[in-house]
Amino acid sequence: MSEPPDPGTVHVAEGLPQVCRTRPPLAGPEPAELHTAAPVLDPGDASAGGGRRAFSERYQFLEVLGEGGVSIVALALDKAVGRKVALKELKPAFADHPAIRRRFAREIEVNIYLEALEHPGILPVYDRGDHSDGRPWFTSRVVRGETLGETVRREGITRTGLARLVAAVREACLLADVAHRAGVLHRDLKPANIMISRTGAVYLIDWGLAGEDDLSVPCDPDAPRPASLGGGLTEPGVAIGTAAYASPEQWLGGGGGVAGDVFSLGGILYFVLTGRPPFPQDRRRGDPGAAAPPPRAINPDAPPALEAACLQAIRADPTARPSSAAELADALRRWLDAERGA
Ligand SMILES: Nc1ncnc2c1ncn2[C@@H]1O[C@H](COP(=O)(O)OP(=O)(O)O)[C@@H](O)[C@H]1O
Ligand SMILES: [Mg+2]
Repeated sequence: MSEPPDPGTVHVAEGLPQVCRTRPPLAGPEPAELHTAAPVLDPGDASAGGGRRAFSERYQFLEVLGEGGVSIVALALDKAVGRKVALKELKPAFADHPAIRRRFAREIEVNIYLEALEHPGILPVYDRGDHSDGRPWFTSRVVRGETLGETVRREGITRTGLARLVAAVREACLLADVAHRAGVLHRDLKPANIMISRTGAVYLIDWGLAGEDDLSVPCDPDAPRPASLGGGLTEPGVAIGTAAYASPEQWLGGGGGVAGDVFSLGGILYFVLTGRPPFPQDRRRGDPGAAAPPPRAINPDAPPALEAACLQAIRADPTARPSSAAELADALRRWLDAERGA
């Protein structure tokens, strides 16, 4: 189930070492080292609900499920309940970075906020705490399946498999729209952050870069909002996100609003049409607003209607994109309906 470290996300906040201002550390520890470093079994933990041994008594590390730039996700057994959980925690190297720790804490809060919307595509958080070295962790439901990126890499791009992938992208658009209507931007939408279970359920994960929208969309006034949302963790003028999927405005350090997430969803559609992201990982060279090659130039079998929807979503001008993720979802539904009728 495990995937190579996701090198793409650029986490930038005040107080980080220079290396993080450009890219996160690329080389994750070898699996053997993960076991010896025991990132999920810190015996010194004092905060997991009742004493030093509480965490290691309750959680048993089983295997690594995946990792990104600053965190690691493991399958663990919650012995108190008798179920397997996904346990996410900061890598030890980031224990001393308050800004990264705060961002991680905010990921938990955003998750808890969104799960109150009771959408099945948002995973519930079960438990949270801090290791003795200050690294926060949380547990959530395990998705038995794989990421959209893994699916495409495993299956390749086939005309027969396309409808299922497009349906998953549409689901991701609808999920992003749910978050947007609640006032939350994901800001790191990419194939590695979309999970598809064996039963076909689609989840948006990794709300680690999520931020408050500029409130250009109406929010549910009754929904409880995490206190730290909008807490200014992101420096103005500093890029966050993943180079291959980030909008030009996000890449240049602008806000990115709903249109930024729509752009990334268009990039995900590009990926399922062509098998590659729309932009090279390193966009520091060249014009961040440069257009990607049309999908059909890479895969001539890509349906023209999907190419059109994709190209509209990844337009450099934010106002030229679909005005919401739901609008992009609608274009995908029209194609799916026509496909089914065909
Ligand atoms: N709840 C989960 N169930 C199963 N696998 C998961 C779960 N959450 C994350 N993963 C796996 O771990 C990887 C990294 O998780 P993610 O939350 O995206 O961390 P990061 O912030 O480090 O990118 C995902 O791409 C996925 O492969
Ligand atoms: Mg991720």
